[in-house]
Amino acid sequence: MYNTILQFKDVNFSYHSKAIFENANVEIKEGEFIFLVGESGIGKTTMLKLIYFDLFPDKGTIIFDKYNSSELDKTDIPELRQKLGIVFQDFKLLNDRNVFENIALPLYIAGEKKEAIKRKVYDIASLVGLMNRLNDMPYDISGGEQQRVAIARAIVTDPLFLLADEPTGNLDPFIALDIIKLLLKINMNGTSIIVATHNFEIVKRFQNRRIIQIKDKKLYDVRVKS
Ligand SMILES: Nc1ncnc2c1ncn2[C@@H]1O[C@H](COP(=O)(O)OP(=O)(O)OP(=O)(O)O)[C@@H](O)[C@H]1O
Ligand SMILES: [Mg+2]
Repeated sequence: MYNTILQFKDVNFSYHSKAIFENANVEIKEGEFIFLVGESGIGKTTMLKLIYFDLFPDKGTIIFDKYNSSELDKTDIPELRQKLGIVFQDFKLLNDRNVFENIALPLYIAGEKKEAIKRKVYDIASLVGLMNRLNDMPYDISGGEQQRVAIARAIVTDPLFLLADEPTGNLDPFIALDIIKLLLKINMNGTSIIVATHNFEIVKRFQNRRIIQIKDKKLYDVRVKS
């Protein structure tokens, strides 16, 4: 059977006095593709931050791969983050570097050799359809292309688990659909993926996928009513 890649066990989390999670539980297996839904301000981005250990639970435990929030040594965080790909809600592209350099960034940080970097960036750029954009600057490409760069950068290190925060946020419906199809293609290659979104049309369209909803400070598996 598939291994568990992520577990929330009775997780409580609050910002100051504002409670976001209370006894939240969930288990995610390797290879899953999940939509994370819930109204704006409910805690989707917070959940992703808990998964990459940017935030820690006040109570309960989060286990990602072999890392446990209750026992984690802070010096393990860089190693743990290398196993995660993160697509931020606001892309966070570097505007003074071209598309190639933006995608290559995690590989530079990991100290990879020039030839390996080139090969990996070309592979990923062709997967996400950016081969003819590699020399362009982020501000010279479209919103959909910027989103692809953010995705390419997140997967170039071949992560176990990809976290995508509202990846269709500001895109027109056709481009949004392309982005989801791209994420499904990446999932087919073996990467587990969680996509935070409030794009209900998209979720409805792919409703045979697992959908986790944040509601009443807990996590629920839900189905779309059609
Ligand atoms: N650093 C912070 N300090 C205090 N409150 C915060 C902080 N970050 C987020 N919040 C609050 O916590 C709640 C959950 O925020 P979060 O960003 O996780 O929501 P979200 O579901 O991702 O929303 P959206 O769909 O708008 O992106 C919100 O009410 C937000 O205002
Ligand atoms: Mg958010």
